[in-house]
Amino acid sequence: MREKKRRLAILGSTGSIGQSTLEVIRRFKDRYAVVGLVAGRNTGLLAEQVVEFRPEVVAVESEKQVGELKRKLGRFKVEILCGEDGYEEVAANTKTDMVVSAITGIAGLKPTLAALRKGKDLALANKESMVVAGSLIRKIAAGSGSRVIPVDSEHSGVFQCLNGKDKKFIKRVYLTASGGPFLKVPLEDLAGKTLAEALKHPRWKMGRKVTIDSATMMNKGLELIEARWLFNLRPEQLGVLIHPQSVVHALVEFLDGSVLAQLSQTDMRIPIQYALSYPERLDSPLPSLDLTEVKSLEFFPVDESRFPLFGLARKALSAGLSFPVVLNAANEVAVQAFLEEKISFGEIFGIVNHCLNQHRPRALVELDDILTIDRETREQAQHYLKRMKGNIS
Ligand SMILES: NC(=O)c1ccc[n+]([C@@H]2O[C@H](COP(=O)([O-])OP(=O)(O)OC[C@H]3O[C@@H](n4cnc5c(N)ncnc54)[C@H](OP(=O)(O)O)[C@@H]3O)[C@@H](O)[C@H]2O)c1
Repeated sequence: MREKKRRLAILGSTGSIGQSTLEVIRRFKDRYAVVGLVAGRNTGLLAEQVVEFRPEVVAVESEKQVGELKRKLGRFKVEILCGEDGYEEVAANTKTDMVVSAITGIAGLKPTLAALRKGKDLALANKESMVVAGSLIRKIAAGSGSRVIPVDSEHSGVFQCLNGKDKKFIKRVYLTASGGPFLKVPLEDLAGKTLAEALKHPRWKMGRKVTIDSATMMNKGLELIEARWLFNLRPEQLGVLIHPQSVVHALVEFLDGSVLAQLSQTDMRIPIQYALSYPERLDSPLPSLDLTEVKSLEFFPVDESRFPLFGLARKALSAGLSFPVVLNAANEVAVQAFLEEKISFGEIFGIVNHCLNQHRPRALVELDDILTIDRETREQAQHYLKRMKGNIS
């Protein structure tokens, strides 16, 4: 008998991960059906996705985008919701089995939680949710029976190495990092690197925010915090290795000294496909990984004088409590300012460092605690930014 199709909602369908997810679905239309899509402002691409994948419901950022989408769809009918409530409704839709969480930043948090509360399986790309609300996510998923399956290539690598093994056998977990575009730039030139230079990632094609996070290596710091909650590990069990070839995505060392590693082509469709098909594996259109062509695999420790934002993330990971919320919020404000060319590359660090230094840590019990600290930190970061630019005394 033919298996029932897995019904999916994709949050962030117009982004890099969202589009790659739809590419995977396009190849396996007999296995997956798209029930819901969420996007922000790119109504042109969303309209094309609606016509091709025929979801029952979609959500966009505001009424303005609802109007745009209606005009673009003409007589094509789909239910259109908007704003945070709309995102949550799509994520919690009773007809959905699995939600792909791929909105950038903390904007992805509430719909991610809405999906988990309803017991949906979650394919998680939105690392910022796990960074700010890891403990809450674990608690809600445990209560509702949701499975959280990582999409990030490094976390998918760890997940595949563990493959159900008891966490008590793990000694250490290593995530790899390509090192980004500035791995070999002289230290004295780093602070003045331009937006165009920072957006040129040597290995991965990704959205703008995560690409800048990769250039500062904040991305790897956020990934360490994500891994801490995904796999329920202690901070000291987590490490990072610079691996410029980006072929090995993660390594797990067990108590007996055995190390398992996960290798694949540098292509996000591989971990996305695995998250959708887990625990099965489906065939891939990509060529096999040819290690004779790769020839050498190099690994280096992270130089924190080159990547000080990684150092801040490591400290936030160890300090715990509300520090990761502050780290994330300050970083989101600073990266947005850099993307708008209001600050230099080197100034991203100053903003995040200031907010962490000023922070008096608190325990995070409920979602409101997280949202309050997130809001306060954003205000503080904006204020610091204005002062830095000499706009206020
Ligand atoms: N790209 C990668 O290879 C990769 C790998 C691992 C993890 N991740 C993580 O996956 C997430 C998405 O990354 P990405 O590279 O796909 O980013 P992206 O290309 O910038 O896409 C972001 C998506 O989120 C939507 N979005 C952003 N803000 C929104 C808001 N306020 N309301 C509704 N929708 C909003 C965007 O909609 P519009 O464009 O329509 O406005 C877009 O669909 C991030 O958390 C990132 O760290 C990405």
